[in-house]
Amino acid sequence: MQTFRDGLLDGKVAFVAGGTSGINLGIAKRYAQLGAKVAVVGRNPEKAANAAAEIGSDALGLSADVRDYGAIRGAMEHVVDRFGKMDIVVSGAAGNFLAPVLGMSANAFRTVVDIDLNGTFNVFRGCHDLLNTPGASLIAITAGQAVNASALQAHACAAKAGINQLIRVLALEWGPHVRVNGISPGPISNTEGMARLAPDAASRQKHYDRIAMKRWGEIEEVAECAVFLSSPAAGYITGTILDCDGGSQVGDASRIDLAKGMA
Ligand code: HXC
Ligand code: NAP
Repeated sequence: MQTFRDGLLDGKVAFVAGGTSGINLGIAKRYAQLGAKVAVVGRNPEKAANAAAEIGSDALGLSADVRDYGAIRGAMEHVVDRFGKMDIVVSGAAGNFLAPVLGMSANAFRTVVDIDLNGTFNVFRGCHDLLNTPGASLIAITAGQAVNASALQAHACAAKAGINQLIRVLALEWGPHVRVNGISPGPISNTEGMARLAPDAASRQKHYDRIAMKRWGEIEEVAECAVFLSSPAAGYITGTILDCDGGSQVGDASRIDLAKGMA
């Protein structure tokens, strides 16, 4: 994909929480390809080191848990010591598993809310005075569950809905200096999220049938959205949640049968 010109992010510093695998690693790689200095953060230090090696370009792979404000703040200070103030911060760490409310303990519910929602608060609250302003760009990775209730997903629905509102509040409070946006990916192939939410062929088919565009999304397509939101092309965009989901949020395409006149 050749959507953006080489060197677009030269001189920029990007911090990607949850950037040691999957979609967020794809975002980190694309930022680095376009010239940014990149740090990725996850809990597992070995995974973080491998991710940094895969990204190349002097990328930093750091270990911190987004649930621990002090740890995440420490990782950010490390990045600023190494690369200078940050221009781009992505909050994408998440945890998920399928469970009905009655199959979930209070700790299970709290764990997902803590990683996704409180983690995003920690990442964004922690970075503010370490940002290059004006012009900094913050992106939270949310999901369709924020808007559409989904059985077996009470924890993620609640957490991602909270993230959507946190994005909007921060866009209001930090408006003049920092843009705050979200990306809501649809079902993205070859990701841990899809493996967990659609673990067998039947559930994969159900997910697939719902997609208006009748194909899975690619990690690279989400990465292009992140580059756009972090670029001058999005200079007047804040408080927005960009759906990158093949139309999944528009409606349930599995209910459409044009031949029978049903929708
Ligand atoms: C019920 C479960 C459970 C399950 C864990 N728990 N799995 N309850 N059903 N399948 C419960 C545990 O019993 C425990 O409660 C509590 O959750 C915390 O579990 P821990 O293992 O102690 O937590 P922790 O080590 O912090 O790990 C967090 C995790 C784990 C979320 C449980 O799966 C993880 O680390 N996930 C990160 C990777 C990930 O999930 N990636 C996918 C993100 S994708 P008790 O009461 O026993 O103490 C995504 C998709 C979005 O978000 C949408 C896609 C379309
Ligand atoms: P993934 O590969 O499991 O990535 C999760 C990342 O977060 C990993 O780097 C993981 O590393 C890190 N992480 C998890 N818990 C953490 C914690 N407590 N502290 C710090 N880092 C933590 O998942 P993915 O499927 O690519 O999903 C990435 C994002 O996209 C998530 O926000 C998810 O909700 C969203 N999303 C995904 C899909 C999809 O189709 N996959 C759809 C919609 C939205 P460690 O395990 O080492 O900590």
